[in-house]
Amino acid sequence: MTTDDTLQTAWQALHQHAEDMRTTHLRALFAADPQRFAAFSLHSGDLLMDFSKQRMTAETLRLLRRIAEASDFARGRRRMAAGEAINHTENRAVSHMTLRAPTHAAPDAATGRETAESLERLRAFCAALHAPAGEAHITDVVHLGIGGSDLGPRMVVQALAACRHPDLRLHFVANVDGADLAPLLARLNPRSTLFIVVSKTFTTQETLTNARTTREWLEAGLPEKNPRAGADVVARHFVAVTSNLAAATAFGIPATRVFLFRDGVGGRFSLWSPVGLSIALAIGFSGFTALLSGAHQMDQHFLTAPTEKNLPLTLALIDLWNVNGLGAKSHGIFPYSQSLELFPAYLQQLEMESLGKSVDRQGAPLTRSSSPILWGAVGASGQHAVFQLLHQGGQLVPSDFILLKHADFPLRDHHLCLLANGLAQSAALAFGETLEEARARQVSAALLPWRSFPGNQPSTTLLLERLDAHVLGQLLALYEHKVFCLGVLWNLNAFDQWGVELGKQMAQRLLPCLESEGATSAATTLDASTRGLIAALKTERPA
Ligand code: F6P
Repeated sequence: MTTDDTLQTAWQALHQHAEDMRTTHLRALFAADPQRFAAFSLHSGDLLMDFSKQRMTAETLRLLRRIAEASDFARGRRRMAAGEAINHTENRAVSHMTLRAPTHAAPDAATGRETAESLERLRAFCAALHAPAGEAHITDVVHLGIGGSDLGPRMVVQALAACRHPDLRLHFVANVDGADLAPLLARLNPRSTLFIVVSKTFTTQETLTNARTTREWLEAGLPEKNPRAGADVVARHFVAVTSNLAAATAFGIPATRVFLFRDGVGGRFSLWSPVGLSIALAIGFSGFTALLSGAHQMDQHFLTAPTEKNLPLTLALIDLWNVNGLGAKSHGIFPYSQSLELFPAYLQQLEMESLGKSVDRQGAPLTRSSSPILWGAVGASGQHAVFQLLHQGGQLVPSDFILLKHADFPLRDHHLCLLANGLAQSAALAFGETLEEARARQVSAALLPWRSFPGNQPSTTLLLERLDAHVLGQLLALYEHKVFCLGVLWNLNAFDQWGVELGKQMAQRLLPCLESEGATSAATTLDASTRGLIAALKTERPA
């Protein structure tokens, strides 16, 4: 039997099993095995992963693991770790793990040196900025970036608010909408503000528009007569983080203030690189190295743990089961931690920009679903907004709950209340309520149809020991490796993102149509809807 035959057979067995399991209720699975929690939970470092509320049995796991084996998952993992160009449509390696590997664990000496040198530059820059420098010292840092050049650092800085450097304010601006930048500039002092322009390509329209506007703002705000402004405002108040040195220096940022990172680091995997400079400034360089160390710990677990103990692989197999077995089209992310409020948004890019594809590695249409639509809300607030659909909407929506064992901002009673809600929601979603239980709760017979809880909504609960840099690094690396695993299991390239190109190119073509007073020749090639909307935009309605 060929490898492909073996793989197809494994998939067929899973689909058959899914038919057998379609109506199995979590209540029955828990009733059948009092030790279910022990059998369906795994532990690594500071993370406990409880997937006992997933609608699966030991047979389900066995069939899923057969697919992983037949997909030659281990070979794909070896290729990534060895720095092979597994991002084949861009002919690039996938090298985010090298950013957090200690020198002795680097894949080769040159990479180890490069990473060490990059970290030393970050350390020195942080030390200089944090050192008291009289009036000229920087009080506010503005991170200008979008997508992977924004979401990771923004989320980490918020997540680690409890470890924040006391006298440096961090701000993030991503959108080209003036409402993102203008209110911030209105309250900043140009003399004590540093801008970090973060863009791997240094061509992203939104980021460069913001960078040009902030440069004008600085030049206007630091008149030549100000001795501190020095000859070059840009040189003093800008640094760049990019793979495109030429474009950054052309903008006016000297090479000595450009932090480079290698092409093999994808935007959505880049917070471990100098893209994370704002993280290091916010929590201190030692905090940043703790983040790297936590991720490296999860890397080692991912690379060495056997299949049945491997948290990232298991998390990926759970998604495979819910999407390709049970037919889920969306996936909820519910961090019961206000500090992790931005985690769902970060994860949306990490997963949907990596796995939201319909063509396999050989260029053929995928024959099965790939990424579900990821969405989420912070708990407990989300319960008061979106959980109605989860409980009574009738759709299968698997979810991940993230709980903290120890609060990052402890207030008496608050944390236990938060935990009680997180545990209660995942249980209520899983087990629902029988008619007898409803009657016992004095639900009137007339209202039973509207007040019933079918349950059987699957979820995984990740219990974090605490929310500090090291534990957060473990969590983020867990999801990065889950994405890698699903790329292998769905046989797609998880590391390119060609789908973002068309809209960007169309925007470039449309801009002149909006900037010009009258109609432009380009407008004639536009579709009627866009033409009509542009006309409306250019027409002032009578008062
Ligand atoms: O448009 C999508 C994207 O290319 C993301 O993949 C990337 O993280 C973001 O835009 C920003 O790109 P850059 O870092 O090159 O500005």
